[in-house]
Amino acid sequence: MKGVILAGGLGTRLYPLTKITNKHLLPVYDRPMIFYPLYTLVEAGIKEVLLVTGGNFAGEFLRLLGDGRKLGLDLLAYAYQEKERGIADALWLAKDFVQDDTVVVILGDNILDGSIKRFVQSYRKGRAKILLKEVDNPSEYGVPRFEADRIVEIVEKPANPPSRYAVMGVYIYPATVFEIIAGLKPSSRGELEISDVNDRYAKEGLLDYEIWDGWWGDAGSSIASYWEVNKYVERRKRDDPTAWELPEFVTYFEDLRNNSG
Ligand code: G1P
Repeated sequence: MKGVILAGGLGTRLYPLTKITNKHLLPVYDRPMIFYPLYTLVEAGIKEVLLVTGGNFAGEFLRLLGDGRKLGLDLLAYAYQEKERGIADALWLAKDFVQDDTVVVILGDNILDGSIKRFVQSYRKGRAKILLKEVDNPSEYGVPRFEADRIVEIVEKPANPPSRYAVMGVYIYPATVFEIIAGLKPSSRGELEISDVNDRYAKEGLLDYEIWDGWWGDAGSSIASYWEVNKYVERRKRDDPTAWELPEFVTYFEDLRNNSG
């Protein structure tokens, strides 16, 4: 199973913070945001990851993460998205990396408190799988419509949400995802929407889901959400310094501090 982190975009919703760096490199408590989705994948046992980025600061990811071997990975590859054409377009760049494998995709600004190991291990081959979280403001997310306990449709940022659930930015796909992306048309905002991909699987009866019972934050949708995430992570790490920590991360950060003086 391969992993993909989507860390592109211009981060305009966080201007001026993102005028001088990539959104996913902004600090979340004591480290750049990108370490949280990276943790989520590595902790779940994924060893080969492709990071898709874009914009003016792509090179900074290489400076920070290198080839990934110090961070618990066997391989960290990079892809560059030339234009901001949406999440599904960014995922398209992972086609050659994924080949016939299954892929776990995480959005670089999604911070999860807890492990996705069980979610990954119970994945059923050939199908797509998403994580859902009940929220107060579903209109800001992808939203599922249910018939009984089956998802029959996914709608992106609906004015009248068909349920109270948000589709989180963590998805598992078979290699058929690339055939679906190839056939997508841009949405009204000119992007290839990941919700349209999920909607296709839903309509084919191939979309599985789990409800995430831990905390989840989308650090990239507004300055307010960015600070909510920071405040939560600070509290959480004060209570438990091992949260979002891997032995490899500890060593890597120690090496950085020791070599800086
Ligand atoms: C994206 C997706 C949306 C999903 C959300 C999760 O929205 O388009 O379906 O619910 O991520 O974080 P964005 O935050 O890019 O507006």
